[in-house]
Amino acid sequence: MTKILKINRRRPEVPKIRIAAEVLRKGGLVAFPTETVYGLGADALNAAAVRKIFEVKGRPFDNPLIVHIADRKEVCRLAKEIPDNARELMNEFWPGPLTLVLKKSEVVPDVTTGGLDTVAVRMPDNKIALAMIKEAGVAVAAPSANIFSKPSPTSAAHVAHDLYGKVDVIIDGGVARIGVESTVVDLTTTPPTLLRPGGISLEDLKKVLGRVVLHPAVRVEKTRITAKSPGMKYRHYAPDASVIVVEGRRRKVGRKMRQLVEEYKRKGKIVGVMATNRRCGYTADVVKFAGNDPAAVAKNLFKVFRKFDEEGVDVILAEGVGEKGLGLAIMNRLKKAAYKVVKA
Ligand code: TXA
Ligand code: MG
Repeated sequence: MTKILKINRRRPEVPKIRIAAEVLRKGGLVAFPTETVYGLGADALNAAAVRKIFEVKGRPFDNPLIVHIADRKEVCRLAKEIPDNARELMNEFWPGPLTLVLKKSEVVPDVTTGGLDTVAVRMPDNKIALAMIKEAGVAVAAPSANIFSKPSPTSAAHVAHDLYGKVDVIIDGGVARIGVESTVVDLTTTPPTLLRPGGISLEDLKKVLGRVVLHPAVRVEKTRITAKSPGMKYRHYAPDASVIVVEGRRRKVGRKMRQLVEEYKRKGKIVGVMATNRRCGYTADVVKFAGNDPAAVAKNLFKVFRKFDEEGVDVILAEGVGEKGLGLAIMNRLKKAAYKVVKA
């Protein structure tokens, strides 16, 4: 039985927050909103509860979880040491879409960190999430609340589609503001390593950290490298349809996309297009406009993927975007979902 709790995102109702918190304290699973995507939460220090997250999602056990906190002081309990640059990042970006990888302390069970000796920590910028974590009085381990390898959920309806009947509570707190996951940065290396681009841009990270190196998996589409962040080695975020990403200069991308639309239609495929320009004139079976600036595309990306699946398209042709700002995270998600990346 799954209980759906609709909670006001500006003024979370305390009695409802208490219900969710109680479930977490007792070792249950609660799907909850964050500013990035919905998370599937359990008490991070309760190994049996965390194990259920992996089982419900169908997630491989070597892919570690992010531990969510509502109070900066919690980091001292979860991490063995907190370098100065971690403190600077927390001051600058927390609460917010930035996850810090630090050396883990003994209290964090191996199942939470996929057997690694590091722990990923973040403080989400969402009143419901913060109130729930505070009320529960436990740190909350949470991956995105989708079935493994599917697009991350940006609404409670997406969560229910994937997980209804498999979790104790789904909180409905509206649509996620950012739409792509948090930026993950490893501070156990010098210089720090960007493991996953996300809601905080690389440019903003560099303002605080100076040098940041990109893990090779960030820009590579088909990653078969032994991943530092085990999440990197799997196909991800993917709708059922085959995604083909077309990258290059805007004008050329349009031309190439039109050519591919015709090519796949001739092959008898139902073709979807994800466009970032309303006046693109594509003749595909389904055309979805994702938005014309990176913030809009980020917010709509996973929703559009899910819509294409509902409409039964076979192929999704997606216009690539520039890799500045949020564009780096958008391209990373597109390429990870992709079956093919085409240069225009
Ligand atoms: O925005 C987000 O980060 C969302 C919301 C719910 O907070 N969560 C999320 O979790 O995206 P998930 O599990 O889908 O992605 C977590 C990423 C994975 O790529 C994982 O490999 C990486 O963080 N990660 C977690 N712990 C790590 C660690 N100790 N070392 C390296 N990477 C780690
Ligand atoms: Mg995920």
